[in-house]
Amino acid sequence: MAKTVLVTGGTGTLGTLVTPLLRQAGLRVRVLSRAAREATDGIEFVAGDLQTGAGIAEAVRGVDTVLHLAGTNKGDGEKARVLVDAINAAGLFPHLVYISVVGAERVPVESAIDRQVMAYMASKRDAELVVENSGLPWTTLRATQFHDLLFTMVSALAKMPVVPAFDFRFQPIETAEVAARLVELVQGEPAGLVEEIGGPRIYTMKELERSYLEATGRRRPVFTLKAPGKAARVYAAGGNLTPDHAVGERTWEDFLAAKLAAAAA
Ligand SMILES: NC(=O)c1ccc[n+]([C@@H]2O[C@H](COP(=O)([O-])OP(=O)(O)OC[C@H]3O[C@@H](n4cnc5c(N)ncnc54)[C@H](OP(=O)(O)O)[C@@H]3O)[C@@H](O)[C@H]2O)c1
Repeated sequence: MAKTVLVTGGTGTLGTLVTPLLRQAGLRVRVLSRAAREATDGIEFVAGDLQTGAGIAEAVRGVDTVLHLAGTNKGDGEKARVLVDAINAAGLFPHLVYISVVGAERVPVESAIDRQVMAYMASKRDAELVVENSGLPWTTLRATQFHDLLFTMVSALAKMPVVPAFDFRFQPIETAEVAARLVELVQGEPAGLVEEIGGPRIYTMKELERSYLEATGRRRPVFTLKAPGKAARVYAAGGNLTPDHAVGERTWEDFLAAKLAAAAA
């Protein structure tokens, strides 16, 4: 019988690219979402919330693999704990595959200011540790920022009359390429922390802003800001980058051109 994979975050930007690939691979796919949804394209939905624990026992019932993608900008450690506790309470032993972020271990989130600026990195590291210490067979993939996320960021900032850019660099990766790698990992043996995955090129935040402004025909000054705190200093020094794992193929320029062309069509 086909194996059942529970995908948390299966309704998100990454998750909606992963689920059809899992179906194509012949797996039974169950998606956890906070909203109740009808089954569609052979995908079953279970309503549940990793914040409160509601519905999680039903979501994990009988699963062979859990692909844990659900996340927000903070509290992912607690969400992972709720998931792992439900799996353990059900006496299951699925392969737990987790998506984290490059730099989760490197960027130190220690002070109050670090927690304000970089809560996300600490939250991903907390979740990584819950997965590693779960007692379950596990695999974690760290990825750099997705094109889609950076597009959302630059397009929002471009609405301002003067556009701020932190002194950060990014190594954007095509979300579909991360999805394809996760599907390989779901089908493979538990592998612990695997080689991280990064986009093909590195850009300053200012360059990403400028490329968007130029491509959309806007003229706005862009100024660079220094983000405060130690975590931001490590981030600005490249703590979020993985130049040795620049395996992504699609560049930011190609993504941006296609995205804007689709929006104009
Ligand atoms: N975006 C990036 O650049 C990047 C880079 C590296 C790693 N990641 C990681 O990749 C994962 C997916 O990112 P994404 O950009 O696809 O995120 P997204 O589009 O914001 O989607 C977030 C998903 O999490 C689910 N979710 C949030 N809170 C939940 C809760 N309390 N209980 C159950 N489900 C919950 C949402 O489901 P419902 O709304 O349907 O409940 C949604 O499917 C995240 O873990 C993120 O940290 C992202």
